[in-house]
Amino acid sequence: MKIISVAGARPNFMKVAPIHKEFRRNQSRVDHLICHTGQHFDENMSNVFFNDLELPRPDYYLGVGSGSHAEQTGRIMTAFEDVVLKERPDLVVVVGDVNSTLACSLVAAKMGINIAHVEAGLRSFDRTMPEEINRMLTDSLSDFLFVTEKSGLENLRREGIAESKIFFSGNVMIDCLLYYLPKTDRSEVLKNLGLNAGKYVLVTIHRPSNVDSEKSLERVVIFLNEMAEKRKVIFPVHPRTRKNLNDCKLLDKFHDRIILSDPIGYIDFLALLKNAEVVVTDSGGIQEETTFLHIPCITIRDSTERPVTVDIGTNRVVGTDLNIARDVVFSVLKGEVKNGDIPPLWDGKAAVRIVEILLQKL
Ligand code: UD1
Repeated sequence: MKIISVAGARPNFMKVAPIHKEFRRNQSRVDHLICHTGQHFDENMSNVFFNDLELPRPDYYLGVGSGSHAEQTGRIMTAFEDVVLKERPDLVVVVGDVNSTLACSLVAAKMGINIAHVEAGLRSFDRTMPEEINRMLTDSLSDFLFVTEKSGLENLRREGIAESKIFFSGNVMIDCLLYYLPKTDRSEVLKNLGLNAGKYVLVTIHRPSNVDSEKSLERVVIFLNEMAEKRKVIFPVHPRTRKNLNDCKLLDKFHDRIILSDPIGYIDFLALLKNAEVVVTDSGGIQEETTFLHIPCITIRDSTERPVTVDIGTNRVVGTDLNIARDVVFSVLKGEVKNGDIPPLWDGKAAVRIVEILLQKL
């Protein structure tokens, strides 16, 4: 049996890694190939993750790079079609919600190849997010839908997806986190950045809604400068955010106690997460990682597609009014933390369950 897994952008790599390991364990039955679309291409957005996660060199690297949504999606489709024509896989595995996820699903569906979507069913109900479109369409094309949290089951049922296609498998990103957590003890990132455990705010901001206009970027600078009055702030800057800060001439407007770093690799970032006093983010996956690590998370978005992190985890979705976000962060710094539990099946065995189901059904 031949299976191709697609990895395109940074948040895909930690989901593909546990799946790859599990397919490797079953290599007598499965020939598992990895196709990297090249949606993310910088050393620190891509290669560093392949190294940290002990992933092999991808079998295919499509090198599509950046572009408008249509350009990027179209380039991925054209290039991936050649791969599928050559390899004729029995299954294509896609993960998450990035443009590579949808593009490769469309190609596989039109060529009559089975699709497994890992991290299916999540919905923010906000169609202004490109990821929401990618999620809905990928799920509607998929044959095996692996769900991380119960809200996903309800969303898929409501959308009329057949029950026989839906599997509550747990969260492969947590498989990855659990596997690599012990390695964070050897990370020197805190020392190198001059940070003390439990005494800094970790920030990631890259959503178009927060960084694509000058006004919203100015508000981000003011917000982070206010936090820096209370604590050191570490802000690994996504290339999209850095480019926009640079274009708006805002890069030198940050407080001295804010460390603007380049994007950080997987193990060092985990070390920063697990030792943070509070995390401020607009990412998807970080809401889950903080919940698992019991670290307070303030999400500066109007919605979340991962409601379990709010219902039983440590996440608070406070909207994009950064005055409100500042007040919530300050309350956490004063000790008003939300205790949370770990969601069901976030136990490090999701990939085992997924591969078992696939091997049984295919
Ligand atoms: C993508 C995902 C988003 C995910 C994010 C994580 C989509 C629609 N969005 O957003 O869901 O949260 O990845 O990082 O798929 N760039 C570089 N080097 C890189 C990658 C990007 O310089 O290695 C710059 C380019 O200027 C590019 C911009 O970042 O135009 C945006 O990249 P793109 O892949 O379009 O989307 P992200 O914002 O990274």
